[in-house]
Amino acid sequence: MEVLEAIKTRRSIRKYKATPVDDKTIQLVLEAARWAPSWANTQCWRFIVVRDSNLKGELAQALLEKTSGVPNPATDAIRNAPVVIVACAELGKSGYFEGKPATDKGDWYMFDVALAMQNLTLVAHSLGLGTVHVGLFDAKKAAGILEVPQGFCVVSMTPLGYPDQEPKIRPRKELPEIVFYDKYKS
Ligand SMILES: Cc1cc2nc3c(=O)[nH]c(=O)nc-3n(C[C@H](O)[C@H](O)[C@H](O)COP(=O)(O)O)c2cc1C
Repeated sequence: MEVLEAIKTRRSIRKYKATPVDDKTIQLVLEAARWAPSWANTQCWRFIVVRDSNLKGELAQALLEKTSGVPNPATDAIRNAPVVIVACAELGKSGYFEGKPATDKGDWYMFDVALAMQNLTLVAHSLGLGTVHVGLFDAKKAAGILEVPQGFCVVSMTPLGYPDQEPKIRPRKELPEIVFYDKYKS
């Protein structure tokens, strides 16, 4: 699959078949994440492959409501997909030189982990698998469930499995609305 085609045809998948995902396929999507670029090649990311049903159920309970009484739409996917991949980050690495922040933008771990996770989702899609970036959850609760050590945090997670739905395309803003030339135009 061409890269642009993969980018354009990937959809967030929130309903999965029970079909298991074999280890080789999991390794392939993790390999895609591993090869992402990162701040000074610090590779602050860590990935937890969760297959245990109880843990997936606990993670689903760490998801936050969209608004009062409206559950996170990915809740059932986290509970029921055959695999959940949880992305963590080591703090104080990305955006730092010799332990000191190198810019006024703080810790860049979100950026690096996002690059890795998008690599992962695109390769998953190219292999016929579904994913959805999930960010709306209680990160401290998720860290507790997975025994993530001090100095690391949980950034995002995605279910991984064979899609059991064909979601509609979510529209994107047209380029003139989001691209400026030479200077920002408001
Ligand atoms: C940073 C981030 C966090 C997200 N968190 C959630 C989430 O908690 N639950 C969910 O169902 N979808 C989540 N999404 C998925 C978005 O809703 C989805 O990508 C967007 O609506 C566009 O749809 P598409 O991925 O099918 O193109 C998240 C996406 C991103 C990039």
